Amino acid sequence: MSERKQSHRKVKLWETEKLPIYQHKEKLVQAIKNTSCLVVTGETGSGKTTQLPQYLHQAGFCKHGKIVITQPRRVAAITVAQRVSQELGCSLGSEVGYQVRFDDCTSKDTVIKYMTDGCLLREILADPELKQYSVVILDEVHERSLNTDILLGLLKNKFLQARGESSSRKVPAKIVVMSATLETNKLSVFLGDCPVFTIPGRMFPVSEMFCNFIGPKDTESSVYVKEVVKMALDLHTSEPAGDILVFLTGQSEIEKACDMLYERAESIHYPYDVHDRSVEGLLILPLYGSMPTDQQQMIFQSSPAGVRKCVVATNIAATSLTIPGIRYIVDSGFVKQLNHNSRVGLDVLEVVPISKSEARQRAGRAGRTSSGKCFRIYSREFWEKCMPDYTVPEVQRTSLTMVILTLKCLGVHDVIRFPYLDHPEEKFILAALKQLYQCDAIDRRGQVTRFGQLIVEFPLPPNLTRVLLKAAAHQCEELLLPVAAMLSVENIFIRPGHPEKQQEAELKHKQLATEAGSSNDFAVLLSVFEKCRASESPSAWCRENWIHWRAIKMAFSVEKQLTEILTRLKQNPDFPVEKFDGHRSELLRRCLCSGYFANVARRSVGRTFSTMDGHGSVVHIHPSSTLFEQEAKLEWILFHDVLVTSRIYVRTVCPIRYEWVKDLLPKLHEVEAHELSSVAREEVTDKEITKWETKEALKRGVATEDALKK
Ligand code: CDP
Ligand code: MG
Repeated sequence: MSERKQSHRKVKLWETEKLPIYQHKEKLVQAIKNTSCLVVTGETGSGKTTQLPQYLHQAGFCKHGKIVITQPRRVAAITVAQRVSQELGCSLGSEVGYQVRFDDCTSKDTVIKYMTDGCLLREILADPELKQYSVVILDEVHERSLNTDILLGLLKNKFLQARGESSSRKVPAKIVVMSATLETNKLSVFLGDCPVFTIPGRMFPVSEMFCNFIGPKDTESSVYVKEVVKMALDLHTSEPAGDILVFLTGQSEIEKACDMLYERAESIHYPYDVHDRSVEGLLILPLYGSMPTDQQQMIFQSSPAGVRKCVVATNIAATSLTIPGIRYIVDSGFVKQLNHNSRVGLDVLEVVPISKSEARQRAGRAGRTSSGKCFRIYSREFWEKCMPDYTVPEVQRTSLTMVILTLKCLGVHDVIRFPYLDHPEEKFILAALKQLYQCDAIDRRGQVTRFGQLIVEFPLPPNLTRVLLKAAAHQCEELLLPVAAMLSVENIFIRPGHPEKQQEAELKHKQLATEAGSSNDFAVLLSVFEKCRASESPSAWCRENWIHWRAIKMAFSVEKQLTEILTRLKQNPDFPVEKFDGHRSELLRRCLCSGYFANVARRSVGRTFSTMDGHGSVVHIHPSSTLFEQEAKLEWILFHDVLVTSRIYVRTVCPIRYEWVKDLLPKLHEVEAHELSSVAREEVTDKEITKWETKEALKRGVATEDALKK
C-alpha cells in the first residue's frame, strides 16, 4: 500500500469514530447476532450505510457469505462503495464492490457488496434463497422505492416462512432493514414485530424561512431556477461561513443554475460585497445522478481555505448522500418524480411540488454539525395549498409491470394479496397484468409464458426486450441492439445554455439527422451510434458533433452486455427464427412495432395525433424530433416516450405503416384486465395456490404425493 493511501486511511478512520453510530457499535452487532431480523433507524448521516457493513465484517459475518446492502439510487451505491473501500484501504472491486445495472464492479474476493435494489431483485430470480449472502441489508427503506418495497415483501415471506418451519431448513440470511427515522414502528410490525435498534441522533436547530418568491402558480422551471440562484448569491454575500446546498429538480435545471451562478459570482465586487471575508470565494458544484463518479466524489472533499462551497443537487442529497459542512439550504420546493399518468396510460417523469415531510428532511441537512438555516423560495400559501403531507410511495404511483412479472417468475402468483407495505390500488395491478398479457409475457390464466421468462432475463422494459427478441428472430439484431442501448442511457444530444452555441449544436444535430437518411428518430440514434463507433477518435467525434461522449460510451458498454445476453439465449435450440425480407429502414421499424404497438398513434386534426391504446389521448410531436413540422406528411406513427406539459408530447418518433400493427392492435383490447387476475382472485386462487404450494413443498421434500391429489 502506498504511503499516500495509508495517511489517507488514518484521517478517514479518525473521522468515522466521530459518527453517531460508532458509540453503539458493540450493541448493534450484538443485536444482529441475537435476532434474524432487525430494523435499524437513525438520522441521515449517522453512519448506517458506510459503517454497519464494516462492523459486521469485523465481527466475522463474512465467514459464511457476503454482506449485501441495497440502495435505491445507483449513484449512492457507487459512491458509498468507493468511500468504504477507501476507509478499509482496499481497491474498489476487491473486498468492497458495487453492482448496478450495466456495471458490475465486484470480484470473487468481494465480501461487502453495495447494490441497487433493482439488481438484487433480479438476482433473486437466479438465486431465490440468496444463498451467497450471510447478511442482507435493505437500506434507505424510508425512500419507499418500488424495488425496495417489493424486496421487503419477499424477505418478509421468506423470513416468516423460515420461522414456521423450525429446523428442517437452513435459517435464512440475517435481514437488516435500515431507515431514517420514519415509520419504524410500521416496519417492525410488518416484519412480524421484529426488534428496532435506534441510533440516537444529534441534530442542531435549523431555522426555516419562507421567502415568498414563488406562489402556487409558478411551476415554470425558468422561474424557480432564477430564484434559487438569486437566493444562493444573497446568502453567500450576507451570511457567515458555512457551505450551501441548493435543491433543484434535474440535470438541465442544475446545469442552468450553475452557469448562472458562475456568471454572477464573477461580478461580485470583492471584498466589499461579501459580509464574511473569511469565505470570499465561491466553489460551485453540481450533483446529479448521471454525473461521472469522480466528479461526484469532489462533493465530499472539504472546500479550500477562504472558499465557500455551493452544491446544486437533485434529491440525491436529501437522504442517500450526506455532504459534510452544509449550514445553509436553499429549497426550490420541487422534485422530478416518475408518476403514472392516467391521461396517457404511461409513466411520465414530471416536476411536482415536494411533500411537507420531504421539505423538513431537506431543511434537516443544514443541522448536522452546527445550527443552520433553510431558505424556502416558496410562500406559505404554496406550502399549504400545493404540498402534500407525505410523499406517496412509488408502488402506489408508477407502473408495476416489471415487478409483477418478477413476482410471478418467483412463484408469487397471487400478486394482489402479496404483502405490500402499502397496498397499491388494484387497478394498477390489473393494468400491469394487462400489459404483460399484451406483450405475451403471461397467458390468459396469468401464468408466465416462455417469452415472459425471456423478458425477465433482460435488464430492459418489456417492450424494448420484445423488440430485441423480434430482431434476433429476424437475424437483424445489429440494427436494434444499438437502438436499445441508446434508449437506455441519458440523452446523448448536448444542449448548451449559450444561445450562439445552442445554434451551432442544433445545426450539427440537424446534419446528423440528414445523414441518417430517413425521417426517423430511432434511425438517427442508430446512425449516431454507428458513426461514432466507426470514427477514428470517438471522443473527438462527439466533441465536434455536440454529442455527450460519456453517454455514448455507456451505450457502447450497454450494447455489448445486451449482445452477450442475446447470444446466450440464441444458443438455445428452441429460439424462434422467422424469415423476413426488407430493407434496413423497414426492418428496423417493423421490429419496433412488435414491441411498441401500445405506443402507436394516428393523425387526427391539424398537427395532432390520437393514440390507439384505448385512452385516445391527443398528442403532439415534440420539437426535438426530426418529424416535427412534418406532421402533414404522416398518418401512423410510433413513439418511445411521452412528455407532459400543458400538452402531451411524444418523443423519439418514427413513421410506420398500418399493416405492420394491424394484427397487433386488437391485442390491446382483447381481454379485460380483471379476467387476467383470475389466479389472484379468492375463489380460484385458494385452490390453485394450495396446489402450487404443495407442488413446491414436494420439490423440497416436505409433502407427500397424496397431499397433491387432494
Ligand atoms: O447512512 P447514513 O445516512 O446514516 O450515513 P452514511 O451515508 O454512512 O454517512 C456517514 C458519513 O460518511 C457522512 O458524514 C458522509 O458525509 C460521509 N460520506 C463521505 O464522506 N463520502 C461518501 N461517499 C459517503 C459518505
Ligand atoms: Mg444511508
